Amino acid sequence: MRLENKKAIVTGGAGGIGRATSIALAAEGAAVAVVDLNAQAAEGVAAEIRAAGGTAVAIAADVASEADIERVVATTLAELGGVNVVFNNAGIIRRTTAVETTVEEWDRVFGVNVRSIFLMCKHIVPIMEAAGGGSIINTGSGWGLKGGGQAISYCASKGAVVNMTRALAIDHGPAGIRVNSVNPGDVNTGMLRDEARQLAQDTNAFLAEAADRPLRRMGEPSEVAQAVVWLASDDSSYVTGSALVVDGGGIA
Ligand code: NAI
Repeated sequence: MRLENKKAIVTGGAGGIGRATSIALAAEGAAVAVVDLNAQAAEGVAAEIRAAGGTAVAIAADVASEADIERVVATTLAELGGVNVVFNNAGIIRRTTAVETTVEEWDRVFGVNVRSIFLMCKHIVPIMEAAGGGSIINTGSGWGLKGGGQAISYCASKGAVVNMTRALAIDHGPAGIRVNSVNPGDVNTGMLRDEARQLAQDTNAFLAEAADRPLRRMGEPSEVAQAVVWLASDDSSYVTGSALVVDGGGIA
């Protein structure tokens, strides 16, 4: 049990990677606050963890909203008694070029993917500082490192996540707070199917293309979850500001 007595917040905790990570953190002994826009699905994940003998609470919230983030932090402190680990994972994608993207869509992608992390850190860092440290993991993307087609707002937002992670690591390292990004390639979740729909492509053909990488398959959410568990745990005690790539070799 690498996370015994630890308390974790997971945003987007009801989705593919967030759900797998909530379960993996709990399996290592952490109590988990499962935060998601989808209240029912978040409660389902929390119930799954409790049924397996773990501790979890579900919190419905929009991570782009400061009021919601403040409520998430307050509820987590009240219900779990502290916060040692935060996985800023909620994210959305719009498969459009700059010409096709509306200003509203651009702002929403940045609100959910970027402002959310700033807001969470703004409110959680003082708590971690007072506790003597913590581990924050932000979900970037392979496309935050190398770019990609027909996803201008997403690529820009994930690039921001990677660099914001480095800046946070510099600012808060002296207080014992480690901040890293995990950068998945194509992972088998609802997001990929949503992308196929947005691009009006056949889902199976889209998923087959996603598997075209050195390891010849997509990633599974549990494989990203294990990287997050490592970054959350003291096993990665000298790792901060890093961009860990989990993509089956897709960047190569
Ligand atoms: P998903 O669509 O399965 O799950 C995302 C979850 O975030 C959903 O439960 C959704 O309800 C929640 N969410 C969306 N907007 C929210 C908001 N405003 N407030 C709170 N919760 C919100 O997606 P997946 O694949 O699990 O993605 C998780 C993260 O991984 C995202 O940041 C995504 O960009 C990133 N990622 C995913 C890849 C993939 O291939 N699936 C590849 C690279 C990065």
